[in-house]
Amino acid sequence: MTVPGLSPVHAGLRPPAARLSLEGARRERLRVSGVEVVGLYTLLRLERGGLEPGIPGQFFMLEAPGCVLPRPMSLCLAPLGELAFLIDPIGPGTQALCALGPGDAIHVLGPLGNGFDLDVGRPLLVGGGIGIAPLPYLAEQLGQPRAVLGFRSATHAEAAALVPNAQVVIEPTLVTALVPREPVDVLACGPVPMLEAVRRLVPRAQLAWEAPMACGYGACYACVVDTGAGLKRLCVEGPVLPGFARKV
Ligand SMILES: Cc1cc2nc3c(=O)[nH]c(=O)nc-3n(C[C@H](O)[C@H](O)[C@H](O)COP(=O)(O)OP(=O)(O)OC[C@H]3O[C@@H](n4cnc5c(N)ncnc54)[C@H](O)[C@@H]3O)c2cc1C
Ligand code: FES
Repeated sequence: MTVPGLSPVHAGLRPPAARLSLEGARRERLRVSGVEVVGLYTLLRLERGGLEPGIPGQFFMLEAPGCVLPRPMSLCLAPLGELAFLIDPIGPGTQALCALGPGDAIHVLGPLGNGFDLDVGRPLLVGGGIGIAPLPYLAEQLGQPRAVLGFRSATHAEAAALVPNAQVVIEPTLVTALVPREPVDVLACGPVPMLEAVRRLVPRAQLAWEAPMACGYGACYACVVDTGAGLKRLCVEGPVLPGFARKV
């Protein structure tokens, strides 16, 4: 069926029947409880309110002051009564979030999407750059397994302090140099080239992908990716997928 006004790619997803994904999610206005500089990133702590932290790898849509659309962020830490997000200030939305101060408040929606499958026997966490954001909460939930992390510079690598049991490399060494050849259950988050390289080494790895997102719950089709097994909305079927995810 062709849906008027939609490209064939998007019409192929049959929007009228498409599932929205808001199960377990709430939208609340949360107060900032703290802001910490972590190398070149910012750790934004919010009072949790009635929001659940969800499963590691799930994400939240954070209102970015001055921006029309919220920005997707993985949950980094879930201390009692708080939700904390590690943010790389790369553009207007993330910079506005990093400029928040204690006492400010923003709307937050979540948890959203599919997180990591925690039923793994030999976990190895693999992270690159700001992709380490979901790993502290994941490490806590898995009993602090071994982690290998890669960064562009020593200043970026200061964020590795958030991940227990982590081995760190800095470019030009790539994090894949630390992925062992013996069988491991890899759970990874990082830039696309890193995820592609991890997938080549460990085809069954669980990979947390990224795509620009506008709604975060399946309504806008901004995040459609080609997974090889069909087109998927990354916010609903992902962000954690076993295979590849290429933006269409
Ligand atoms: C599920 C998910 C979880 C995320 N978790 C985190 C996190 O924990 N911490 C964090 O700092 N960032 C995270 N991001 C990325 C973050 O959402 C973007 O960096 C942010 O939306 C950029 O907004 P901006 O206004 O600052 O910059 P913009 O001006 O919107 O973007 C700056 C540049 O980055 C590109 N870009 C923006 N978003 C994406 C994207 N999702 N994928 C690829 N390129 C993009 C733009 O095309 C542009 O070139 C996550 C993204 C997703 C989808
Ligand atoms: S459908 Fe709106 S962000 Fe995925």
